[in-house]
Amino acid sequence: MRPTASPAARAAKLRAVLHHHNYRYHVLDDPEITDAEFDALLRELKDLEAEHPDLRTPDSPTQRVGGTAQERFAKVGHPVPMLSLGNVFDEEELRAWHERALRLLPQGTELSFVVEPKIDGLSVLLHYEGGSFALGATRGDGEVGEDVTANLRTVQTLPLAIPAGGGRTKAPRRLVVRGEVYMERDAFTRFNEEQLARGEKVYANPRNFAAGSLRQLDPAVTATRPLRLWAYQVVVVDGAELDSQWDALDLLRRLGFPVAGECARLATLDEVAAFCAAWPERRETLPYETDGLVVKVDQRAYQERLGAVGNAPRWAVAYKYPSTEVVTKLNAIGVNVGRTGVLMPYAELEPAQIGGVVVRNATLHNADYIRERDIRIGDSVVVKRAGEVIPQVLRPVPELRTGDEQVFELPANCPACGEKVVRLEDEVATYCVNSACPAQLVRSVEYFVSRGAMDIDGFGIRQAEQFVERGLIKDVADIFSIAAADLDGMPGYQQKRIDKLVAAISAAKDRPVWRVLTALGIRGVGEVVAQSLVAHFGSIDALERAVPEDFTGITGIGPILAGSVVEWFSHPRNRRIVEKLRVAAVRMAEEQVPEGTAGPKPLDGLAFVITGTLPTCSREQAAEMIRGAGGKVTGAVSAKTSYLVAGEAGGGKLDKARKLSVPVIDEAGLLELIAAGPPRSA
Ligand code: IVH
Repeated sequence: MRPTASPAARAAKLRAVLHHHNYRYHVLDDPEITDAEFDALLRELKDLEAEHPDLRTPDSPTQRVGGTAQERFAKVGHPVPMLSLGNVFDEEELRAWHERALRLLPQGTELSFVVEPKIDGLSVLLHYEGGSFALGATRGDGEVGEDVTANLRTVQTLPLAIPAGGGRTKAPRRLVVRGEVYMERDAFTRFNEEQLARGEKVYANPRNFAAGSLRQLDPAVTATRPLRLWAYQVVVVDGAELDSQWDALDLLRRLGFPVAGECARLATLDEVAAFCAAWPERRETLPYETDGLVVKVDQRAYQERLGAVGNAPRWAVAYKYPSTEVVTKLNAIGVNVGRTGVLMPYAELEPAQIGGVVVRNATLHNADYIRERDIRIGDSVVVKRAGEVIPQVLRPVPELRTGDEQVFELPANCPACGEKVVRLEDEVATYCVNSACPAQLVRSVEYFVSRGAMDIDGFGIRQAEQFVERGLIKDVADIFSIAAADLDGMPGYQQKRIDKLVAAISAAKDRPVWRVLTALGIRGVGEVVAQSLVAHFGSIDALERAVPEDFTGITGIGPILAGSVVEWFSHPRNRRIVEKLRVAAVRMAEEQVPEGTAGPKPLDGLAFVITGTLPTCSREQAAEMIRGAGGKVTGAVSAKTSYLVAGEAGGGKLDKARKLSVPVIDEAGLLELIAAGPPRSA
């Protein structure tokens, strides 16, 4: 059923629905529709906008893909200076900060606090006009920053229109929000691995990565970077009186901004100190990097009285933790071979404790990295370990040299197969180009089964090594021919473990196509690119047949990537792998979304609560019907409930619904709603 609404109304509706689902997916991590359904809606909006270009608003979800590349960034003055923070390093200094603040306030003042994670990313200022994201700037020197609006639009958790995510709070006419653009550690590690495999630049930490990505002149490049946002400060707001930082965070949340869940409102400095003391442990469990906490005076009135000194407010302070860096000795440099044949030097260190963990090895990325920093064998080096990120050698300490240190050279032959290595022009990496190199095969298999690719439980580098060594695996597709009998008698493989592994391999045949495509390890094709390719081509077969021109217009895919994909499929060896996967019944095509079902559904965006006994169907059946029609079913009536479906003996929920003026319908009313959709509001 195609809707008969005007194109403008339809576009507005699609924008709203897409913003909602975007928020569910990216901010709440709790999607209500499938990716295919989302894509279908997005496609409809794109088509509509192509047909009626005047309907393309800057806050349209289609604009996340990145506009046109620029020569340089325009400068923007900030409405108020973007301040920085002073630091304290222990409880004593924290208490001194508190004392200083109290001395500037009337006697007997009791301060309360909000403590927030200090996110290690890039500070940005986001301007909203009439509810639409209008301008985004970097901090710059605090007074003047750079206009990175087009790049920020590609950040999926940044609301382009507020309120986002079905919030009912009315958007202020003007709102300026400060937040931090960052990247999760896992995504960072994976991205760096992919960059390395592509022979491209690696970033030293997620913060540099976020900064580098946000300052790309071509937003289409930014769009391929998995950046995220935490909002933490309301800088300007029209028409709302915010009494406290806590209220500000609450407003941000209600408007659909992502606000870090770790923020806490604490009534006393003792509680703040306890929170800070417990943080180092908690910090390790977070998926993103923090370099401390920010302690803020909660009450706005006191914030204003305290003001700022220099470029730091007196009402807030950063509580930082001792460094995660140590100096240790670089005993030797080893070389691994990656799945694309790239040689990867790593440091063999004098074991050192960093943040409670003993570190023995650390990455050195590539030969240029070592040369640029003049890292020598025998040097004392600074090693950093932050959370889950692989430890890395940052730099040598030349003052500690004895004169016995040696300059490192990459070997001329592959350490695994002995073949001559080559360094391709314009690339930082050196490769072993022997396609039969066992080290590459092991790495390809390891990558194929890894979490970001086919995600096969119980299968890692150890298994890859064993199976390659035993000749069970000659290419990645052979993974699917591993049978229980092959593993029988292998040391360490009891029946239970064998069954589990074989079942896990079999289950992986049903992974989404983008995972299969990622797993193939085509240069430049990581998760994000694979998803765009699958969304565009629908199947690996179609991709196999594609010519470079077929890639024009796909977000984030330029001619180099297109060339890399076409080249990969041109090799008979690779085509054989694809064929073997097909024969093994690995999923190679996206399931078709039947025509018409992918469009909006009658109950899209509506939330239901069911209570009492319904005349003809059980509550479960009713819930099924609602979900099938695009609605959501929750357990408790709240202001967000669209309808209460009440049968006999409704009870407390009925009272609550009446109190909150939530419409109450019966089973017949529900069926009507599903058949006709909700009444349109004017
Ligand atoms: S408040 C006047 N809150 O830390 C308000 N900053 O070292 C000043 N940062 O430039 C900032 N998380 O980029 C604030 N929850 C948070 C933060 C935070 C990270 C950054 C911010 C600032 C830097 C200061």
